Amino acid sequence: MEKEKGLFEVELYDGGKKKSTSMDKIEDKVGALTLGGGGGDDASSGHSGPQQAAEFSKTKGKEKYSKLFNKTSICDVVQKGSSLAEQGDSSENCDDEVLLTCVVCGWVKTGRVAGGGAFAFIELNDGSTPVNLQIMVTKEAGSASGVEELKQITSTGCSLAIEGDLKRTPKGTKQKFELKCTKIAYVGACDGATYPIAKKKTTFEFLRSQLHLRARTNTISAVARVRNALALATHLFFQQNGFLYVHTPIIGTSDAEGAGEAFMVTTLPAQADALVKGQALLSDEELASLEAAASAAGGEVKEAKTALKEDPKNPDLKQQVAQKVAVLLASKEKVELAKQRRAQPDGFLRTKDGTIDYKKDFFGLKSYLCVSGQLQGEAYACAMSKIYTFGPTFRAENSHTTRHAAEFWMIEPEIAFADLQDVMNCAEDYVKFCCDYLLKHCADDMAFFNKMIDKKCLQRVKAVAESSFARCSYTEAIEILEKEAKRRKGKKKFVNEVFWGCDLASEHERFLAEEHFKCPTILYNYPKEIKAFYMKLNPDGKTVAAMDVLVPGVGELVGGSQREESYDILAKKMEAAGLDASEYGWYMDLRKYGTVPHGGFGLGFERLIMFTTGVENIRETLPFPRWPGNAYG
Ligand code: 4AD
Ligand code: MG
Repeated sequence: MEKEKGLFEVELYDGGKKKSTSMDKIEDKVGALTLGGGGGDDASSGHSGPQQAAEFSKTKGKEKYSKLFNKTSICDVVQKGSSLAEQGDSSENCDDEVLLTCVVCGWVKTGRVAGGGAFAFIELNDGSTPVNLQIMVTKEAGSASGVEELKQITSTGCSLAIEGDLKRTPKGTKQKFELKCTKIAYVGACDGATYPIAKKKTTFEFLRSQLHLRARTNTISAVARVRNALALATHLFFQQNGFLYVHTPIIGTSDAEGAGEAFMVTTLPAQADALVKGQALLSDEELASLEAAASAAGGEVKEAKTALKEDPKNPDLKQQVAQKVAVLLASKEKVELAKQRRAQPDGFLRTKDGTIDYKKDFFGLKSYLCVSGQLQGEAYACAMSKIYTFGPTFRAENSHTTRHAAEFWMIEPEIAFADLQDVMNCAEDYVKFCCDYLLKHCADDMAFFNKMIDKKCLQRVKAVAESSFARCSYTEAIEILEKEAKRRKGKKKFVNEVFWGCDLASEHERFLAEEHFKCPTILYNYPKEIKAFYMKLNPDGKTVAAMDVLVPGVGELVGGSQREESYDILAKKMEAAGLDASEYGWYMDLRKYGTVPHGGFGLGFERLIMFTTGVENIRETLPFPRWPGNAYG
């Protein structure tokens, strides 16, 4: 068996001077954790993260890929500790019973020295759970490990590895148990005076300037665990229902949603800059003088050649011809470069109408970051029957709302041999599955959000998991909104006018989901003018088989539709939308070769996180959010 490294064979922080701390091996002293019936040394939880990860891998106990410290995740220690502390032996001196022995590693949340310097209390967190582990370090244990000053190890943000015995705390204390440190490794110092997030209370806005550190805060780490859980739930739902995961491209040549919000992918500006930097822009006179020099060089070549003709074997004359030709070529090149530069005064090659010529670009035509993977998803659905994509999506909307990000993640299932009803049913089941999954697997984090962020989030997520969504046609929704608009007076009036044909604003969507139906609501059959070209035209000729899922607190969570499967109708719709059919030849082929009724939807992953956790700004749901003017970190 591979020999395990003891904790202190590792090079540790020693205040700047490098040295190895020598300490006893710990593996024989650390009791094998057998959590939830898992098995001893072999059992490992890796980074157990949210509780579901441990359940998913059925591995618990010491972490397989942290043998360096032979550690156990705080999530596992807390879980096991809670159940052991509760089981308790009711005898008098059960308080001194060692519930388990383990090594934990993490970052100090808070710490304080007590008992006149005799011991320190530390709250340690490793990101695996919202719950901190309380650790008690005595002065003796500290100094035996080379930590003379207990104060050092209590500073917020420093990293520690701690070996200890988990014991019950005296009755009546808030914590049910704590880890009594037997050995400590001061892994990384953290200067409280400069640590940007040392303060207990900081604003989300401030934390956005500290993206690299903000995952150490309670809210952002809880969001990260929920995000991870929802990603897993997404794959579970679609895989369990026979969908195939397809990686659609990130770079494409069409703005699929036709909203003109795509980021361009181009190497032309770099080429233009290189040209501008490498070649001065010459005036007419300067160019004329270069041309004159080239013509003079041409004359000299002629003369040299004539002389050589008269004495063909003369080596000096041969050399002269070669030299003059070289000078001529160099001056011709100068003229060419000067002309190219003059033809591209700003560095860009332009067509006759003055627009940039993309033929010389990397892909030979205008290319964009994807605003959706749907069109390619359709190609795969029309071969594999049921697919889904789950990837980053980019939109250059200059939008500063709390619900828009320039880079976000979208889940886009696409189903062949399906209609709008199938699409709506799938979207509803998927959202309900995700809510149910969070309740079952992220209970601690959900309790945290319910307490600290949104007192209604648990109730909302439960209600969604348990009950059906409301469904209502666009036309009915307009009637409801018109009635409401008449009823509203003064400041409460809708800002945007409501009429059949209008694109619903967020205030309308939220009214329907939050006040009228009071639950997630699916609106369907929208006017064709306000929806994308690919949606199926309904028999009324006025509406398309589109649907949006609106949810309380967020508004639009899902957008989807049945797709137009008729070649001729689609061609007409594209023409009406002013789209260049030649760019969509491959997409039209799907209607030419074995077309089928099909449809799908897109769910904004960050909006699902906002809806389930109550986090109000999308910027808190993305690890490194991008919005206009911000691509930091
Ligand atoms: O409604 P959208 O634009 O639909 C599509 O892109 C379709 N191609 C989907 C499909 O049928 N396959 O976008 C889908 C969802 C929205 O409902 C919203 O939740 C989210 O994507 N979304 C955004 N999320 C964050 N930031 C943005 N800028 C978003 N734009 C759309
Ligand atoms: Mg939409």
